[in-house]
Amino acid sequence: MNTVSVQHQRVLSGMRPTGLLHLGHYHGVLKNWVNLQHEFECFFFVADWHALTTEYENPGIISESTNDMVIDWLAAGVSPGSSKIFVQSRVPEHAELHLLLSMITPLGWLERVPTFKDQQLKLKEKDLATYGFLGYPLLQSADILVYKAGQVPVGEDQVAHVELTREVARRFNHLYGREIGFEEKAEAAVSKMGKKNAKMYREYRKSYQEQGDAHALEVARALLESQQNISIGDKERLFGYLEGSGKIILPEPQALLTKSSKMPGLDGQKMSKSYRNTIALRDSADDIMKKMRTMPTDTARVRRTDPGDPQNCPVWQFHVVYSDEATCEWVQEGCKSADIGCVECKQPVIDAVIAELKPIQERAKEYIEDPNAVKAIIDEGCEAARDVAKDTMEEVRKAMGLG
Ligand code: TRP
Ligand code: SF4
Repeated sequence: MNTVSVQHQRVLSGMRPTGLLHLGHYHGVLKNWVNLQHEFECFFFVADWHALTTEYENPGIISESTNDMVIDWLAAGVSPGSSKIFVQSRVPEHAELHLLLSMITPLGWLERVPTFKDQQLKLKEKDLATYGFLGYPLLQSADILVYKAGQVPVGEDQVAHVELTREVARRFNHLYGREIGFEEKAEAAVSKMGKKNAKMYREYRKSYQEQGDAHALEVARALLESQQNISIGDKERLFGYLEGSGKIILPEPQALLTKSSKMPGLDGQKMSKSYRNTIALRDSADDIMKKMRTMPTDTARVRRTDPGDPQNCPVWQFHVVYSDEATCEWVQEGCKSADIGCVECKQPVIDAVIAELKPIQERAKEYIEDPNAVKAIIDEGCEAARDVAKDTMEEVRKAMGLG
């Protein structure tokens, strides 16, 4: 648990640019990002290098999607005022850290990441027996660690990647966090905290190290965080000293598990581009109407007079997301008694989806019509991200003897 609490507040996440965003992204990811940005310092980026690991034969889709994806983020409410929005390949520090981490990452750690074999099986039409694809999760680790992010909002399928990141960070700190005279420097730093705080720090440290008291560890971290008189370097030392290991250069991040989106696709499976069951954030009202009118319903309802069961109907799942209680009751009763028809039943969700997307599409239109504004937002985000990433790399190089 070598998490440096100073950076604990920093949130980072990325998305691969592989096509237009849809309602699944909106409900599963973007709404969550929008909420997080009010509370934390957020870094959100387009993971174009990650997209290349699977789309290397068709890279056109990546450059096409990058700009549109940022526009959709902005339209969904991700705010450049609160978040840094940038593109991975424009911050070369990600690549440098990936390379350096690759030196200390055992091959077995990568081969054992479940997505490695799963995706190879799932995407059989692609040759994913590549060096880059094996390194996919390690590149993700570099993405996270180069910003010393504390929290990483991801879906269930990505938790193993954050777990790998923690292991790699631990190994890095273990190998390179030992500086000459660490103990003396740490003790000197403790003294700088003032008598009372120093005494508390020592007591908590002792409780943690001798009795494994996790609460003491937490309180001591909070104490450190509140210290204004000591330098960042000393703080890092003291976080490490707390646990006895050495200096913590790359703090371990936590996965911030996003509840899996309840957003079903048009066919009742999870909404996903590969299932061709999506409603894109850019779909016109007409498209939405057409898509939803042809949506399958409970197959037991062959004729209008046959009763149905919402439980067996993808339209019902849309009601769960979009409709109020009264409407849901109306569906349940009307469907089971054959009082309402499917066309009628679909109308409230059609209206709700169109209404939900209307303001998003209006905002998207403004950005589409002003490409310079989008470019400026991305430029600024890249620059701000690079500033942070450069600082980390300086520390990393120094720690590895690459001064
Ligand atoms: N692998 C992630 C996905 O497919 C995208 C991603 C790349 C990411 N780098 C990241 C997510 C860093 C969180 C943090 O969804
Ligand atoms: Fe589905 Fe509604 Fe038709 Fe019932 S009435 S089968 S819930 S669309």
